[in-house]
Amino acid sequence: MGPPGSGKGTQSQRLVERFGIPQISTGDLLRGAVARGTEYGVRAKAAMDAGQLVADEIVLGIIRERLAERDTDSGFILDGFPRNFAQAQALSNMLGTLGKPLDAVVLFEVDYGEIVKRISGRRSCPQCGRVFNIHTAPAGSPPRCDQCAGHPALVQRADDEEATVRRRLEVYEQQTQPLADYYTAQGLLRTIDASASVDEVTRRLVALLESLPARQRLRNAS
Ligand code: AP5
Repeated sequence: MGPPGSGKGTQSQRLVERFGIPQISTGDLLRGAVARGTEYGVRAKAAMDAGQLVADEIVLGIIRERLAERDTDSGFILDGFPRNFAQAQALSNMLGTLGKPLDAVVLFEVDYGEIVKRISGRRSCPQCGRVFNIHTAPAGSPPRCDQCAGHPALVQRADDEEATVRRRLEVYEQQTQPLADYYTAQGLLRTIDASASVDEVTRRLVALLESLPARQRLRNAS
């Protein structure tokens, strides 16, 4: 968890490569549903455009379907979910049924000025979804994806417009940040300073995850 633009998506993609487990980003899943025009997507679009949370019923439906897929058997990274108490409690029930408790909840801390800078520079590839930033990794002018055939031009997210970002930050403070106390009480919360460079944040995150009891048990067993 962390505010918009704190680097959750960027770091999750790196953890996918490092640990070989999938990233489950509710933001990406919802944007995919909007792009495909599914029933969930049509219902989610208005809330996303307004910087509000999408209805729990939709998000939980999407998460339930995703967690049923086989690639989650050896673990998964939840990115941007849960975002309120109702979602956290529903997740706890789902994982209890699956017998897969959370190993940790990582909170990314970044100050407001850095968040605004990161979001204003964010661009993503419409084909592969990879996230870039014109301030730190300029990808040409106009910026293009260097990973995909045909090098498609990078695009800016519709909800990265200034007024919508301000609303997303308010929603984060009011509804999501309080979950930090909820997970602290369960002994699951780990906080990292995510204002450093992408590589340094990855180093801090991997060190933290490697130190978790669940990870050490896996290493001892192998
Ligand atoms: P979502 O897509 O999850 O947006 P978000 O939480 O606001 O987070 P962001 O994607 O903006 O930021 P991030 O932390 O992933 O940062 P990133 O790595 O991209 O959700 C969008 C919407 O969907 C929500 O507003 C809501 O409507 C809906 N939604 C989603 N989940 C929901 C849920 N559970 N319930 C209800 N509704 C839900 O990095 C940002 C930029 O900074 C990039 O350009 C990146 O290259 C750059 N960057 C990253 N790290 C660094 C660094 N260390 N140094 C410099 N630059 C960096």
